Amino acid sequence: MSPEPRAAIRQLAAYEPVDRQGINLSDNANLFDTNPVIQEALAEVDPDEVRRYPSGYSDELRATIADVHDHPAEGVVTANGSSDLIDLLVRTFTDPKGKVAYHPPSFSMIPLWTTCNACDPEPVPLTDEFGLDGDAFVAADADLGVVCRPNNPTGNAFPIDVVEDVADRFEGLLVVDEAYVNFTDEPDAMHLRDRDDVAILRSLSKDAGLAGTRFGYALMPPELAQEVRKVRGPFRVPRITEEIARRALEDPGHVDRVAKIVKEERARVSRRLKEMGLSPFPTETNFVLVETPWPSSRVQGALADRGVLVRDFGSETLEACFRATIGPPEVNDALLDAVESMLDDGGP
Ligand SMILES: Cc1ncc(COP(=O)(O)O)c(C=O)c1O
Repeated sequence: MSPEPRAAIRQLAAYEPVDRQGINLSDNANLFDTNPVIQEALAEVDPDEVRRYPSGYSDELRATIADVHDHPAEGVVTANGSSDLIDLLVRTFTDPKGKVAYHPPSFSMIPLWTTCNACDPEPVPLTDEFGLDGDAFVAADADLGVVCRPNNPTGNAFPIDVVEDVADRFEGLLVVDEAYVNFTDEPDAMHLRDRDDVAILRSLSKDAGLAGTRFGYALMPPELAQEVRKVRGPFRVPRITEEIARRALEDPGHVDRVAKIVKEERARVSRRLKEMGLSPFPTETNFVLVETPWPSSRVQGALADRGVLVRDFGSETLEACFRATIGPPEVNDALLDAVESMLDDGGP
């Protein structure tokens, strides 16, 4: 008899990255030039390091993160991207059949990791204006809840007082995923990290441009972080990633420069898309969600035929929407040109 995967796994749809030739605006990675400090770090890598294990729990890097955020190093957990941390937190804070609240449309890995860990995703849909329904989120009575702020794919940042109110009333661990927070001028949720039931997640994939080396971290109460580290296990973050992440965190100027251009460019791109008759939603991130009069799969195909890859939300709740990363001006021009050419041809 052949081995049987769990029924819940068999029914899951795997996360499918967009896999075609073209300018990739599908995954919100950083499309700007690589930070020179990363290039220097890579040039200095000693090839012999690959034979040795990395540090068990990223002690040196945790000290840097602790300095950056003025948070005890014991309360920092490092991992391979913030999506890895979502998995670790679900595994640490839920029993099988436990509940994880999230607010679709949101980051698709949240229900995926939840199901993989034999738990049940508890969807608490956003309101019609993409607002967080705080009362329903609390009423979901979940063991863990994940709030993405700013949210992917909608691009908005919920008002901070709504998140504070949920943190006051939610009974489980509240995870605030701040992968895009450096692209907004709204206040972050960092002040909540001192509570005994909140974890803040940060990613270096988007603003710092380290999607390829995979690095993210959580800030949380030290007593809880200690438990997450047991699940994380030692040696999780590769040695080279640790070194690159440390240098990136010590050079916040690069993130500030990228964020400044993204803010200007997302306003310009949104303006142009509106002039062309499409409906971009307001965004506080490095991507824009755009509604069109056509099924999104056709729009995605038409743009891909013109060499630009965007993410299609046809199979999710936003049927007529695509999402495109905002990068430097020349990259955004390629998107605008592709949209214009599609419209000139009468649509997708
Ligand atoms: C809201 C949100 N959180 C986390 C992530 C994952 O980031 P990382 O590359 O750090 O795993 C993403 C990536 O798209 C995201 O949109």
